[in-house]
Amino acid sequence: ARPTVYVTRDIGPEATDLLKNHCDVTIWAHSEPVSRADLISNVQGKDALFCLLTEKIDKEVLNRAGSQLKVVATMSVGFDHLDLNELKARNVRIGYTPDVLTPATAELTIALLLATSRRLLEASEEARTGGWKAWSPFWLCGPSLNGATVGVVGFGRIGQEVAKRLNGFGIQKLLYTNQSGKDNILGGHRVPLDELLSASDFVISTCALTPETKEMFNDETFKKMKSNAVFINTSRGGVVDQDALIRALKNGTIWGAGLDVTTPEPLPLDSELFKLKNCVVLPHIGSASIETRNAMAVLTARNIVSALKGETMPSELLI
Ligand code: GLV
Ligand code: GLV
Repeated sequence: ARPTVYVTRDIGPEATDLLKNHCDVTIWAHSEPVSRADLISNVQGKDALFCLLTEKIDKEVLNRAGSQLKVVATMSVGFDHLDLNELKARNVRIGYTPDVLTPATAELTIALLLATSRRLLEASEEARTGGWKAWSPFWLCGPSLNGATVGVVGFGRIGQEVAKRLNGFGIQKLLYTNQSGKDNILGGHRVPLDELLSASDFVISTCALTPETKEMFNDETFKKMKSNAVFINTSRGGVVDQDALIRALKNGTIWGAGLDVTTPEPLPLDSELFKLKNCVVLPHIGSASIETRNAMAVLTARNIVSALKGETMPSELLI
């Protein structure tokens, strides 16, 4: 019998066809995420699960899936929605999508940074709604990247591509924190977090969400930042204590924030963050270039097919 796979969203024709060539495919083909109940009933008896970051894959889901489940592949680079210990305990292989989304996510990080510092959304709104009376010397001004010190927290694949793209903007100094311990990557300086926070005009979070990074941006860390600091987060909302961020933006502890990720997602419409002019919120679109999303879907499908054949996966998360 052909192996069976459950897919939790419409993933486009290329990835779907790739799966269908090898497997019997069941798809949750709706625009909204699959409910927990539907996920649990559909995953039962399947050999493979193609999921997104909107699905929490935990003990309950895995228990209901059953022992023939061989692979869980997520169409994302982040894997904080997967319970790695439970997967490992069941010998379920894990696929994810690093690398293919790095350029798109780096691009979006720069776009969000500039949108925040140069107040693009606010400016566009003024132009559309009659606030534009005349060219005015200090109207809608914000901090410049030119000559700035930029700190990247989590200098991995995405953080490094952000730094490369910043090169063209005339930044004065690049600081970073990383786990590898290597100094002098891309001409930057590896420094302790406290030093990065107190010296940077722009603080960019591109680190994975782990127990160590959970709410690492909090009252204490925001207070260490400069009052002109722009904080950008394109990693996971969970690295930020969001109430602390709201306080910091309201009190002028920092100058502004650009967020592609929040807690929760979607961010409720009554969130204070939407009321703050010095905050730009995007709906988690870091990797959303047309080419990239398709490449992520195809890579996830290839991860599944390879795992089902017992072969090397193009992108296996080894834990
Ligand atoms: C997006 O946030 C991803 O993890 O791919
Ligand atoms: C701006 O448009 C300028 O000419 O300074």
